[in-house]
Amino acid sequence: MSGFFKSSVGQKFLMSITGLFLIVFLAVHLTANLFLLAGSDAFNVVADFMDLNPIIQIMQPILAAGFIFHIIYASILTLQNQKARPKAYKKFEQGHSSTWASRNMYVLGTLILVFLVIHIINFFWKIKVSGSPLLAEVNIDGEMMHNSYALVAGLFMDAQLGIVYSILYIIGAIALGLHLHHAFWSALQTFGWSNNVWRKRLEVIGDIYAVIIAAGFSIIPLYFLIFM
Ligand code: HEM
Repeated sequence: MSGFFKSSVGQKFLMSITGLFLIVFLAVHLTANLFLLAGSDAFNVVADFMDLNPIIQIMQPILAAGFIFHIIYASILTLQNQKARPKAYKKFEQGHSSTWASRNMYVLGTLILVFLVIHIINFFWKIKVSGSPLLAEVNIDGEMMHNSYALVAGLFMDAQLGIVYSILYIIGAIALGLHLHHAFWSALQTFGWSNNVWRKRLEVIGDIYAVIIAAGFSIIPLYFLIFM
């Protein structure tokens, strides 16, 4: 078994399974975030529910491990591919069967990682560790909870840096969409779920998902910039 996970097929399998796990996380995270558009009470209640929910508590370290393994195996496989592939072949391949996103998965992944580190410092770190005056508890229907809405709104509506953070979050969302454009069917292909007929269908499903994720995460900073 350990031999399988040391082989490049096994490593691709681990990268795909952690990638699919992250794809599911993104759908849950976007759904929760879209409550920001419904106003402060709605989002704070959802954020409070997520914060206290035991399943989410158990999932958080698993999620962190998912990200770490995904990045480690992506790095190993990219290095192996670079060593194995002669330069002439690389040139020939460009623009033929592959898309720009599929050739630049590691660059897109690195961009997403940079975004993620800034994002964790912006929100997760403040909510769980350092605190922020913006998080001062609010009373919603008799229950006291953090004002997570004020933290998010405060970032995107900040007089000096709001526009910079909004652009950064939109770039992060677009990079994520491009990454998913290739990642979705590629992961399923690793599990052998993609034949000639299904490859086209999975590509379309993956593209729809990628557009929903990129547009959905971009709408949030745009909403605070334009409407608030
Ligand atoms: C407009 C876009 C986004 C907003 C407003 C947003 C908001 C938030 C907030 C408020 C938290 C803290 C949740 C808590 O601990 O109570 C959080 C955590 C997190 N976000 Fe985002 N997020 C956005 C986009 C993204 C994207 C694109 C990714 C992935 C690439 C992502 C990944 C994470 C992760 C891994 C955590 C920590 C785990 C968790 O608390 O669930 N977020 N986000």
